Amino acid sequence: EQAEKNGFDHFMLKEIFEQPKALEKTMAGRIDKETNEVDFPELAWSEEQVAKWDKVHIVACGTAYHAGLLGKSVIEELTRTPVDVEVASEFRYRNPIVTENTLVIAVSQSGETADTLAALRQSKELGAKTLSITNVVGSSISREADDVILTLAGPEIAVASTKAYTTQVLSFYLLGIYLAQKKKQITPEQNAQYMKALQHIPEQMEEILFHNDDIKNYGESIKDAKSVFFLGRGIDTAVALEGSLKLKEISYIHSEAYAAGELKHGTLALIEEGTPIISLLTQENLYDKMLGNIKEVSARGANVLGITMSGNVKVTQYVDETCFIPETYSLFTPLLSVVPLQLISYYTSLALGNDVDKPRNLAKSVTVE
Ligand code: G6P
Repeated sequence: EQAEKNGFDHFMLKEIFEQPKALEKTMAGRIDKETNEVDFPELAWSEEQVAKWDKVHIVACGTAYHAGLLGKSVIEELTRTPVDVEVASEFRYRNPIVTENTLVIAVSQSGETADTLAALRQSKELGAKTLSITNVVGSSISREADDVILTLAGPEIAVASTKAYTTQVLSFYLLGIYLAQKKKQITPEQNAQYMKALQHIPEQMEEILFHNDDIKNYGESIKDAKSVFFLGRGIDTAVALEGSLKLKEISYIHSEAYAAGELKHGTLALIEEGTPIISLLTQENLYDKMLGNIKEVSARGANVLGITMSGNVKVTQYVDETCFIPETYSLFTPLLSVVPLQLISYYTSLALGNDVDKPRNLAKSVTVE
């Protein structure tokens, strides 16, 4: 096992550090070298077929569901097609509006999660076109879906998912651009800019990974917290949910993720002197709104970490600590902002002496209901 960890203390840390390569692999083969456009040889969908879908429905569990939340933002933004995203265990027990004009996307690292598989089967019965985004070749979900996008993250051993999540998110970016190309809703210039930015992400991720001392210290500093809150707006909210789940899974500290605008409708009552707040400020258009929310929690004594794009120095005046991530398109920041969150949960768990790779009560793959 030690050899498999390749010099890292835990599989989780190894897998966090494998993300730049995993993203490169997932991208390679999906970008046409001549045109620099997205191409999924495994899909080969016609323009007519894509035009037929009037709705997309994403189903998944856990971390894969959080990738799905970003998938919704990306597909809606790039194609203006409405997208629903739902946890599979809810989807399967109601009467979902899925027709033959719906594209259902099942997201699952293992490809074996019982609820996601059941949701996929139900969607097929309803006549939908089904696509799976999965990391395991030959898994049940990959075999049963009409089409498959394989994330090339390599085997993920740690229960807390990291590289599977970022490759799922990347797959949604590529898929969103692919659909927009088919629907002629993206200009060649915009396409070129997006592709350039995406291809630059692995290198930018390396920058975060190899300068992580401050993140480590921060992770250790919150180990005795009673509760930790993650705040964001827009797509940062989806990243906040994933950061909060990571922390809960392996540190066993209670945490909640909140759309910052909702704070005043209840959560603010829970903020006390010294409560750690991890706030994401990567969306330029929501930047000032977030600063307003940070003022609200700081006034109640919270200790605030701000995660923002480099250059946004203004934020340093409002928060106790700042973590800068390299600059990219607003739409793509989740691939970078999630990395400090993964590292924070890792170092918090480590400081508490928990079993990072095998947290209590949890399984890597849930194949029973
Ligand atoms: C379990 C794992 C999570 C994972 C979820 C969905 O709960 O502990 O890390 O996100 O299952 O798994 P899947 O394989 O379908 O992505």
